[in-house]
Amino acid sequence: MLMSSSVSAVNHGENWDHGNWFCGFWVGLLLAAYLHSGDEKFVSFARDRMALVAQCADDGNTHDIGFIFLSSAVPFYHITGERLYRDMAMRAAERLRARLVVTRRGSYISSWGPMDDPRGRESSAIDTMANIPLLYWAARESGDASFQLAAVSHARMTDRSFTRPDQTLYHAVQYDTVSGVRLRGYTFQGYSDEPSWSRGTGWAVYGLAATAAATGDRAYLDRASSLAKKWLEQLGGCIVPPWDFDDPAPRPVLDSSASAMMAAVLVDLAHLHPEEDQRIFWRGEAERLPSGLCSEFLATDQAHRGILKKACYSKPHNVGVESAVMFGDYFFEAIMRLLMPGKFIRQYERLG
Ligand code: GLY
Repeated sequence: MLMSSSVSAVNHGENWDHGNWFCGFWVGLLLAAYLHSGDEKFVSFARDRMALVAQCADDGNTHDIGFIFLSSAVPFYHITGERLYRDMAMRAAERLRARLVVTRRGSYISSWGPMDDPRGRESSAIDTMANIPLLYWAARESGDASFQLAAVSHARMTDRSFTRPDQTLYHAVQYDTVSGVRLRGYTFQGYSDEPSWSRGTGWAVYGLAATAAATGDRAYLDRASSLAKKWLEQLGGCIVPPWDFDDPAPRPVLDSSASAMMAAVLVDLAHLHPEEDQRIFWRGEAERLPSGLCSEFLATDQAHRGILKKACYSKPHNVGVESAVMFGDYFFEAIMRLLMPGKFIRQYERLG
């Protein structure tokens, strides 16, 4: 599936239109198929596809290299031990680290566009939280703590600038690049600037859980848990959220990908929590969502091009609405974290 890469990046032209951000997810799905079936042909398909994805490792114009290599080269190396994929992911991590903008109030990873373009430097999206686990991976793999420093400063500044008092989040923030003051909070893919884009919370929880795992700092786990609790409260016992919790339509379009990715992240929370009652709670939710996805949202029609039905890439742009999306299917497969802990990617250890 090919979709515009720019629904969030907004601007167009050389160095902005960088190709789609989900090309790595297909590789991840093939690797998951290999782990599930033991059939080597899936590794061979994944290897062929990686040859095409590899060129993105040298694209320094987008935070999306995190999404791309975390879902492809990192599990490839984890599963096969082939150094080629380690080196590729490391190159991508170097590019991502180079997107750090240092201000007086802290530092953040700029989301889109060339770094010498002020429109790129001043903007940050909540999605970037899902890219910083690549920096934690690189820090651990190489022993170079500067990757981790960049990721932690991004997480700290994002938490301060994106989180509203009611534990919902802005989709994007425009910073003053010198002082680091938030000039405005706004949205590209949500209903309007103030409401609550359901997939965005998942990206934030994903990055905060990774930050807690990398640093051992309980405060990040608490924030991740509190955002996830708010999301579950907004979900209100359903399985799949609306694309934006504040869409006033009587039957808003749903986004199954938001649920699939939140489920994958809740597995992380269940692993990280030191308290048994918390582990039981998060594990229960991490199992409830995929089980509901299986019974209500699994595509059985051969004509459907994905695993899950009723995802929503971007409602405001009318792109991928009521559709299959590659990232939804990828995170749904990441439920392998429940079925085969540690096989697909390294499993987080419990905080002390
Ligand atoms: N760019 C990430 C998303 O659409 O969720």
